[in-house]
Amino acid sequence: MKKYIVIGNPIDHSLSPKLHNFWYRQNNINADYEKKKMNIEEIKGLILALKEKKIHGINVTVPFKKDIIPFLDQLSLEAKSTQSVNTIYLKDEKAIGHNTDIDGFELSIKNLKINLIDKTILILGAGGVVPSLIFALNKMKVSKIIVSNRTQKKTENLKNLFRGIEVVDWGVIPNIDMIINATSLGLNKEDKFDLDFSELKNKFFYDVIYNPKETNFLKEGKKLGNTGENGKMMFIYQAQAAFKIWHGIQPIVNNELMNLLEQ
Ligand code: ATR
Repeated sequence: MKKYIVIGNPIDHSLSPKLHNFWYRQNNINADYEKKKMNIEEIKGLILALKEKKIHGINVTVPFKKDIIPFLDQLSLEAKSTQSVNTIYLKDEKAIGHNTDIDGFELSIKNLKINLIDKTILILGAGGVVPSLIFALNKMKVSKIIVSNRTQKKTENLKNLFRGIEVVDWGVIPNIDMIINATSLGLNKEDKFDLDFSELKNKFFYDVIYNPKETNFLKEGKKLGNTGENGKMMFIYQAQAAFKIWHGIQPIVNNELMNLLEQ
């Protein structure tokens, strides 16, 4: 039986095992996918296990998406450009790091039939997922990406990776077409931004968070007359892309799967 794993810290909340194990059953693949809480010191051993074919694929989540890079032999263009790895596989005895969060986000937008060409986007936050959002937004040919983070110093790294982005002070909400919550604010049901979104109407609010299903950010956006979407499909599509890399099959996203993830 082949073994797959998602590592992170914390990791309890991860729905990845549910998703991948469902697809293994659906496709008659003899494999098992589990989650493991890890410390950075354990990563070297994990990559060795991949090379010894004791583990056949690794997903990486917070806080290791950048920290794992020095342990890998090669990065895809996407992983290199974003300095973020969420999917690892072995090819020609080399541990390769790739980033499927980019495709996950892009597909989640495309399937909503939203066209972002020439649009202006405001991203709240400067954490681990933001480089993937910026890379995908550039692919979708937006005209401007503005980033705002509570701690402005943290946007410096983003500016080095993506020269074209603009940065505004926390609290400034410029005139934009789409606003993305990429902070961790909202993970707790009662979390609320101390920002004034009241100028935003007929815009698109996107929250990378999908649990809770509707954060206060999305609730407020809708109340003000905007549309909204959470990060559930982004999560599913990044997993789908990882599955395709490991097994060469595009697994199906159906109602049964959606119901399973609700439980
Ligand atoms: P990391 O920064 O380790 O990658 P993350 O969960 O990906 O972790 O990022 C957390 C993001 O949520 C950061 O942008 C953080 O802002 P700071 O850089 O100022 O810490 C943001 N964040 C978390 N709590 C917040 C809050 N109460 N208000 C505003 N932003 C918050």
